[in-house]
Amino acid sequence: METLEAIKRRKSIRAYLDRPVAQNDIEQILSCASQAPSGVNTQPWQVAVVQGQTKTAITEALIAARRSNEKPNPDYDYYPDDWQEPYNGRRIACGRALYKALGIERKDRKQSQQRAWENNYRFFGAPVGLFFSIHQSLNTGSWVDMGMFIQTVMIAATAKGLSTCPQASLAEFPDIVRRILDIDDQYRLICGMSLGYADTKQAVNQYQLPRESPDHFARWFD
Ligand SMILES: Cc1cc2nc3c(=O)[nH]c(=O)nc-3n(C[C@H](O)[C@H](O)[C@H](O)COP(=O)(O)O)c2cc1C
Repeated sequence: METLEAIKRRKSIRAYLDRPVAQNDIEQILSCASQAPSGVNTQPWQVAVVQGQTKTAITEALIAARRSNEKPNPDYDYYPDDWQEPYNGRRIACGRALYKALGIERKDRKQSQQRAWENNYRFFGAPVGLFFSIHQSLNTGSWVDMGMFIQTVMIAATAKGLSTCPQASLAEFPDIVRRILDIDDQYRLICGMSLGYADTKQAVNQYQLPRESPDHFARWFD
C-alpha cells in the first residue's frame, strides 16, 4: 500500500475479527516503527505485546478496578480540566458519533456507556494488545518522540491490512498493567493499543471523523 494511502486509511477501529495476527507481522510493524525519529536518537520507546492469557488477565483486572469504582490514576494528565473551544466542540462531536454508531440513546446512556467503555479493556475483541511506556528520567521531548513512534506503528499496521485503536483508557490504572507485565515502576505508561483485523460489518467501524482542512490550521509565509 502506498504511504499516503495508508496514512489516509488509518482510523480507530473498535470491533475486530477473531482472526490471529502473524507474529512476523507484529515484528515487522515494530521494526518499521523503530525508524521513527527521536531527539539525539534516544529511541525512548518500550513496547509490551500482549496476547492470550496475559491479555485476558489485563482485561479482567481493569474491568474489576472500574466496577469497584477504583479511582483511575494515570501517569499523566492527557486531557485538560477546563475544555475550551474549539477543542470542546470536537470532543463532544467525537463522543456523539461513537454513541450514535453504537446505537446508544440518551436515556440509557449511563449503563450503555459503561459497557462501551469496558470494551476498551477488552481491546474491542482484537487478538493483540500493545502497551507503550517510557522511562521516567526522560523529558517532555521524548514524549513527542513516542507520539511519532506510536503513529508509525499504526501506519505500518494499516499498510499490512491490519487495524488499530490507540487507547488512553488502557493506561487509566497503570499499576495494574505494570504488575501484570512486570514493568518496572520507573516506566510511565503512555497508552495501550488494540491491533487486529477490522470487523468492517460493525456500524462502530463505519463512520469517519472529519478533519479541519489546512486552510484552517496552517498559515503561509514568504
Ligand atoms: C493517545 C490516544 C488515546 C486514545 N484513547 C482512546 C480510548 O481510550 N478509547 C477510544 O475508543 N479511542 C481512543 N482514541 C482514539 C481517538 O478517539 C481517535 O483517534 C479520534 O477520535 C480520531 O478518530 P480516528 O482515529 O478514527 O481518526 C485515542 C487516540 C489517541 C491518539
